[in-house]
Amino acid sequence: MTSDAIGIHDLSFATTRFVLPHTTLADHNGTDIGKYHTGIGQRSMSVPAADEDIVTMAAAAAAPIVARHGADQIRTVVLATESSIDQAKSAGVYVHSLLGLPSSARVVEMKQACYSATAALQFAIGLVHRDRSHRVLVIASDVSRYELDSPGEATQGAAAAAMLVSADPALVQIEDPSGLFTADVMDFWRPNYRATALVDGKESISAYLQAVEGAWKDYAEQGGRALGEFSAFCYHQPFTKMAYKAHRHLLGYCGHDADKGEIARAIADTTTYNADIGNSYTASMYLGLASLLDNADDLTHQAIGFLSYGSGSVAEFFAGTVVPGYRSQLRVAAHRDAITQRHPIDYAKYRELHEQSFPDDGGDYSAPRETAGPYRLAALSGHKRIYEPR
Ligand code: CAA
Repeated sequence: MTSDAIGIHDLSFATTRFVLPHTTLADHNGTDIGKYHTGIGQRSMSVPAADEDIVTMAAAAAAPIVARHGADQIRTVVLATESSIDQAKSAGVYVHSLLGLPSSARVVEMKQACYSATAALQFAIGLVHRDRSHRVLVIASDVSRYELDSPGEATQGAAAAAMLVSADPALVQIEDPSGLFTADVMDFWRPNYRATALVDGKESISAYLQAVEGAWKDYAEQGGRALGEFSAFCYHQPFTKMAYKAHRHLLGYCGHDADKGEIARAIADTTTYNADIGNSYTASMYLGLASLLDNADDLTHQAIGFLSYGSGSVAEFFAGTVVPGYRSQLRVAAHRDAITQRHPIDYAKYRELHEQSFPDDGGDYSAPRETAGPYRLAALSGHKRIYEPR
């Protein structure tokens, strides 16, 4: 590793207390389970408990990183989300407080649909370039919520991914250049007055594929690596089959054969966690990276391609190289436990949680104790969200 390397030093994720298996959703709405398991590539989706939200998941994801590395050098926290809880205050300030981070830090929230964690990562890399002793905590945290009985319902989920960005990273060195793409499209959006997203499903898939082309074209023009140099590709995964669609599209665009075996080799290990968690918006591509590092054979020195997409739309293609010794830093057992220890719920409980929202009349409210995570959203009091360790 060159001494000017900057990248992801640690990576940890957290998800929710509850899980809804797609078999339960299929039994309710009469859908052939093949559509969910094979057609969109999803087995289950994480469902937040009444006392969980983007802050509790973000703090749960970041706590093991702070426990391992300490907080002294963390002078910046960037929280990326598209399911924000306040129009003014960054959710990251609550996380900063729950984790006991030093007051000598800046905290900010970033938004551009599912893309913004990548903007946060690039911002973090810029800060570390300026001062190599500086470490940045980047957290992506989201709850994906569509209307009940809509086509989007099967592509919900929730999770947070936390990354420590530093010089001489232990996991993945992030490279220059990036390929960038922005187009003003209305494929998926959520006006401030809505709790669920609006989406044009087919338009969103084609907007994503256009963005793959655009970001790759710019990446190539900026002098990036050739397609054949990558051993795996982490795509944003609104549902895991989308990563396969995107990679097939990229291979075709570059004039390569879209061989099924080759696509599976490049993608399969990145989808293990997302197939069980569902869409975690900003966190999804970084859960894909965790899945790849945790589940693939040795990737030392290998190049990984990243395609980050956020509806609306902005996309970025960039490369990372896996650092020797990375395996000793992985959190495989904790990641698998986060998935297997979720509690399956029936359709009635899922519907109750989906329809539940904190009162917006300014009244006070106590949340029932449900989470098994380290932090909980305890109450709303005097227009303030009250968080506490569990
Ligand atoms: N067995 C096997 N496969 C089956 C099947 C069966 N019994 N029945 C259907 N299928 C297949 C279909 O052939 C189809 O596969 P292809 O796409 O390869 O043709 C797949 O299952 C899905 O079937 P439909 O297209 O009929 O499904 P749908 O109309 O219910 O919509 C969806 C699917 C558009 C993804 C919808 O769930 C949705 O709107 N989701 C939210 C939007 C979304 O995720 N968009 C992705 C791009 S946008 C983005 O990435 C940002 C973001 O995070 C939201």
